[in-house]
Amino acid sequence: MTTAETGLRVPLMDMVLCLSHAVDLVSTSVADHHKRVAFAAVRLAEAFGLTPQERLDVLAAAALHDIGALSLKERLDTLEFELDRPHEHGASGHLLLRGFAPFAPAAELIRCHHVPWERGKGMEFRGRPVPIGSHVLHLADRIDVLAAGKGDVLAAAPEIVRRIRAQAPDRFVPGLVEVFCEEARKEAFWLDLTSPSIDRALAAAGGECDLYLGPAALLDLSRLFGRIVDFRCRFTAVHSSCVAATARALAGPSGFSEDARHLLHVAGHLHDLGKLAVSAEILGNTKPLSEEQWRVIRRHPFQTFRILERIKGLEEVASWASQHHERLDGGGYPFHCRSKELSLGSRIVAVADVFSAMKEDRSYRPALKDPEALKVLAEQGRAGLLDGEVVALLRERHQDVEAARRQARDAARKEYDRFSLERAGTVGAGSRPVQGGSHD
Ligand SMILES: [Fe+2]
Ligand SMILES: [Fe+2]
Ligand SMILES: [Fe+2]
Repeated sequence: MTTAETGLRVPLMDMVLCLSHAVDLVSTSVADHHKRVAFAAVRLAEAFGLTPQERLDVLAAAALHDIGALSLKERLDTLEFELDRPHEHGASGHLLLRGFAPFAPAAELIRCHHVPWERGKGMEFRGRPVPIGSHVLHLADRIDVLAAGKGDVLAAAPEIVRRIRAQAPDRFVPGLVEVFCEEARKEAFWLDLTSPSIDRALAAAGGECDLYLGPAALLDLSRLFGRIVDFRCRFTAVHSSCVAATARALAGPSGFSEDARHLLHVAGHLHDLGKLAVSAEILGNTKPLSEEQWRVIRRHPFQTFRILERIKGLEEVASWASQHHERLDGGGYPFHCRSKELSLGSRIVAVADVFSAMKEDRSYRPALKDPEALKVLAEQGRAGLLDGEVVALLRERHQDVEAARRQARDAARKEYDRFSLERAGTVGAGSRPVQGGSHD
């Protein structure tokens, strides 16, 4: 029976919000920014009379709008009320998200989410129309930038309203500002916006979203998530794709059903999702890392687990993906699982991760050749760190596994090159992906 027949259905909005949450873990300065903007944007969109479909697109766009700010510096810059280079991260977010069909309208909203209204000139940007949702997102974003960190938000609200109103026809659509002023009269709007339980407020504002992903769309979306993690550093640009392909190639001969193989493929793409909580500056550091930087990097499989465990239907994927740095002797991290606690899926992802990383260049060493990489795996198998049977299987099926890995690597490399080229063309050389080292 195929996965399609078993009816795996994963809520799209759960996936969107998990990614949204992940990108805000990078610094306490941006904590929950995406969710708060999504809440404000949906409230404004509804009050302004956008259609349910437009509201959904605004919700997805707002939940991911700064995803193109690849480095921590770029991300923190977006919190300035007056931005220096306002369109770069929008252009880059658009490039990242546009390839997944259900996100195409949201990607377009993100592309122009800092375009000023300029008394109507802002209906167009770089030769394309600007959807009204982009202006909604722009306003919601600036509201949150002004409200964030205010201890007593109700005391700060009148000044926020004054500043927004003062920029109405130049920066914001006047009709939208009127809608905002109405919302701003309600204490509940501000209290929800700044609430630690913004998830509940967002769920209520977003209403019921019944879009579900089937197996093929889930794989496409997890591949996209993996790319978003990997493309932040040139050295890791193909990593998650290689882990995913290797894990899938090992799953069949390990006796996994077609459904389970599919999920293991998904887990491979998502295994480093928690690295979104690590700044690109640390990931790309070419110098030896400090103890503190290592501690930050070593949090990532834990974050992968906490991010994915929220998604209904992906419980098994969450453990396979997040246990890739666990070792059979209990010496791995972050859970220090022991042999009996590690399922075959987790063991396969761990072997796929070590093998793929060795086969990729890093700033401090070139990629290893096959005999050398297989030798290291065998040693780790013998030492009781990696599963010896999975390692033996990889050696036996080496040709097939390597063909699958290379195919995935080449496809990811092609996409990365296109992304880098277009990004340099759209956003200028000033904010290219971090070029440095990458630490696994
Ligand atoms: Fe932004
Ligand atoms: Fe923002
Ligand atoms: Fe990892």
